Amino acid sequence: MSRRQRIGVLISGRGSNLGSLISATHSINFPAEISLVISNNPNAPGLAFAARAGIASKVINHRTFTNRPDFETAMTASLENAGVELVCNAGFMRLLTAKFVEHWRNRQLNIHPSLLPAYRGLHTHERVLKDGARVTGCSVHFVRQNMDEGPIVAQAAVPVLSSDDAETLSARVLKAEHQLYPHALRLVASGQVRVEGEKVVGSNGPAAAPLFSPSLDIS
Ligand code: GRF
Repeated sequence: MSRRQRIGVLISGRGSNLGSLISATHSINFPAEISLVISNNPNAPGLAFAARAGIASKVINHRTFTNRPDFETAMTASLENAGVELVCNAGFMRLLTAKFVEHWRNRQLNIHPSLLPAYRGLHTHERVLKDGARVTGCSVHFVRQNMDEGPIVAQAAVPVLSSDDAETLSARVLKAEHQLYPHALRLVASGQVRVEGEKVVGSNGPAAAPLFSPSLDIS
């Protein structure tokens, strides 16, 4: 197998998507390995996933910096010292400046709990339920300057049930997220997809671009 891409994961909280990425990297054929986990929050429960897996982690607390650019410069320095080639945001709750986004252009992914471009921002599940949408899902996309915008790598569709509240819907979407993020990372890290004209295309032509919709046990 060819060399594994070195991944840096940015978290702020629970870290369940980090957990799913770590599990994926345990598979022998996975084209990426996690070299460093950075949390801006010293109390992020997700740091335990890295510790359990023996992965290096670092707290870079934004509150100890007087401005956003200095905080981001520290993150880039740590990522580059660890040889990181691709950054995965996984529940990372800080807005990023244009400088950081451009530095990692086409080398930074994010996961968002909606079918983008619908429902960017926070409280997606509440808004989906308020609107009465019957299908929602999650998206993995390359990071651009505007929050939750950028070329979409893969999406998973998830049904909204009439009995749902934000908690049950969020749990169902999260289950899909845990399948989708490793899938999308595999596509990017293996070079099966690339960005062309601000769209993600399959490296063998547009037909190879993925639409990922896991079937879920919703009973
Ligand atoms: C996920 O729903 C992700 O899509 C969103 O933030 C949440 C993070 O969850 N960006 P976790 O920290 O990975 O458990």
